Amino acid sequence: MTATNTGLVSKLKDTLDNPRLFNLLQLAVAGRQNITRRLIREGLNLMPGERLLDVCCGTGEFADVALGPYLGIDINEKYVEYARQEYGEGKGHPEREFLAEDITGTGFLTRGLTFPKSMIINSMHHLSDEQNSAVLAAVAQVTTGRFVVVDMDPEPSNPLSKFLVQQDRGEYVRPLKEQIALVEPYFKVENAFTYYARLTGQTIIFCSVKS
Ligand SMILES: C[S@@+](CC[C@H](N)C(=O)[O-])C[C@H]1O[C@@H](n2cnc3c(N)ncnc32)[C@H](O)[C@@H]1O
Repeated sequence: MTATNTGLVSKLKDTLDNPRLFNLLQLAVAGRQNITRRLIREGLNLMPGERLLDVCCGTGEFADVALGPYLGIDINEKYVEYARQEYGEGKGHPEREFLAEDITGTGFLTRGLTFPKSMIINSMHHLSDEQNSAVLAAVAQVTTGRFVVVDMDPEPSNPLSKFLVQQDRGEYVRPLKEQIALVEPYFKVENAFTYYARLTGQTIIFCSVKS
């Protein structure tokens, strides 16, 4: 890649810090992700009124998976502010709360909150093994029932999807097997497979808490 191209790519990556642009790109590549929403609800066996934790919620795109009270937590204040306005109180959803905090921090963990169902979507490939382990340990501490992981598939058979995954900002896109190995110390993995959300090759891992 030439120096000019590298500069352009890095500019594009910076631009994606803007929540609106980030969401537009997601929409173009992955569509509305209704298949992901359906798989998560089914995998979690989500019941009306049940409280849901969305770890690394970003701009809150998946808050509407919840069928009851929802807590989205993300370390990026800009994203959380956007989420509040677009998917929370700002849009008449007081049951959806967004927290600008590090889930691994004592601030969150010492509150004594628990959730019957939790999810983490398209985030693990942005985190190192160590960061994922810390996040998963924190989720395991507050989850009492089921947990779902959605992430990217680095090995989709569709060549365009393969190209797109190579352009992703995440530095740690892992094969499904490696994703499962990261989750297993903290949760009982019950099922896992790959699927497509429009052009994006995705992975999904269904888990329950360890007894
Ligand atoms: C690619 S975004 C995914 C956003 C969202 N789940 C989605 O699918 O649209 C990954 C998010 O993880 C957040 N994050 C990373 N480490 C975190 C931590 N320790 N605690 C809370 N959020 C974290 C980042 O700020 C970023 O918004």
